[in-house]
Amino acid sequence: MKYKRNIVITGGAGFIGSHVVRLFVNKYPEYHIINIDKLTYAGNLANLIDIENKSNYKFVKMDICDIDAFYRLMQEEHVDGIIHLAAESHVDRSIKEPFTFVRTNVIGTLSLLQAAKLCWESQSEKYEGKRFYHISTDEVYGALEMTHPEGIDSPFTTVASSGTRHEAYGEDFFLETTKYNPHSPYSASKASSDHFVRAFHDTYGMPTIVTNCSNNYGPYQFPEKLIPLFINNICHRKPLPVYGKGENVRDWLYVEDHARAIDLIFHKGKVAETYNIGGFNEWKNIDIVKLIIKTVDRFLGRPEGADLDLITYVTDRPGHDVRYAIDSRKLQIELGWEPLLQFEEGIEKTVKWYLENEAWMDNVTSGDYQAYYDNMYKNR
Ligand code: NAD
Ligand code: TYD
Repeated sequence: MKYKRNIVITGGAGFIGSHVVRLFVNKYPEYHIINIDKLTYAGNLANLIDIENKSNYKFVKMDICDIDAFYRLMQEEHVDGIIHLAAESHVDRSIKEPFTFVRTNVIGTLSLLQAAKLCWESQSEKYEGKRFYHISTDEVYGALEMTHPEGIDSPFTTVASSGTRHEAYGEDFFLETTKYNPHSPYSASKASSDHFVRAFHDTYGMPTIVTNCSNNYGPYQFPEKLIPLFINNICHRKPLPVYGKGENVRDWLYVEDHARAIDLIFHKGKVAETYNIGGFNEWKNIDIVKLIIKTVDRFLGRPEGADLDLITYVTDRPGHDVRYAIDSRKLQIELGWEPLLQFEEGIEKTVKWYLENEAWMDNVTSGDYQAYYDNMYKNR
């Protein structure tokens, strides 16, 4: 069958990538969706079991640093769109092994850009109808201060010029124009990849878009990140390691709201633009931890707050950014996107999903999912 578009999604076996793949495969039967993923510890094809047999979907195991393999795939599949999510994504790992982050996030992104450039420039229509969309993080902007207007307790309510009211822990927000100031090896590697993507537009005219999103949560997130790790630990009554005093603030967005934004921006976003994506939803870590404990205890029929004593304050993460808060008005006003889920509702849905998908969690925490796919690919 000839498809209307042939789109590569990188990192589609990971957390956000799997939601994006699912959305595109189901919503656009006229598109061919090619998921390329190296299947690192964070990649799990079980995340896509419900769509793996769809005729418009294909999985290719590939390292994004393999420029020759990616160039061949671009040619063979007539790829006209790339949505790039593959990355090393965990700050704590980046502190231990920064080179892995430079390899995948910087060299990998550059390899995709270079292969796409060579392929598209060799075609008569060149960049027409093409798109290279790079998914990035708000962490590239660095950390914001916790500042409150005098006499007002934090969090306080602010009203954006769009009329949206939201709770905030400080007066500043990350804008698309905020200067990059990354602090962790993870955010430094993502910042570098963002710069390469923009450089390929400015230098070669490649039709690129970059988006910077706040912290995501929801089903299929690897349990090294705060929310799934803590849900799992509460279930097994294991300690909950809260870094420092638990006062750090993150701006949380339900993963399906991010996937909807990616869909909208891929189709309607302006080339060479940057869009910030976030839910105006700031929470202190410790407040999230208490909300998760309350929700898990309620679902498991434990007395409310029974597991509060699992909270264990541990040594802070080195270079721990104090506060992230995204101003996503550009996306809301220009493209009409807004998050659909309130945080309490999203946490309820998320906790329920992890409790109902115990087998997924057990597979991931035991590492069995990797042995299964390693064998599958060895036998091919
Ligand atoms: P994840 O760690 O869950 O998934 C990453 C995926 O990339 C995995 O499937 C992994 O196998 C794959 N991958 C890693 N190295 C690869 C390589 N060399 N070649 C091919 N595939 C490789 O990450 P995530 O949380 O889903 O994040 C996806 C993207 O979104 C990342 O670029 C991240 O920086 C960005 N982002 C994440 C968040 C968040 O809160 N999780 C927020 C904003 C932006
Ligand atoms: P995380 O989910 O790792 O995302 P990021 O570092 O990209 O924001 O962490 C979210 C917040 O939770 C961050 O402030 C660090 C904190 N945290 C803990 O306090 N304990 C933990 O065990 C983890 C994983 C994170």
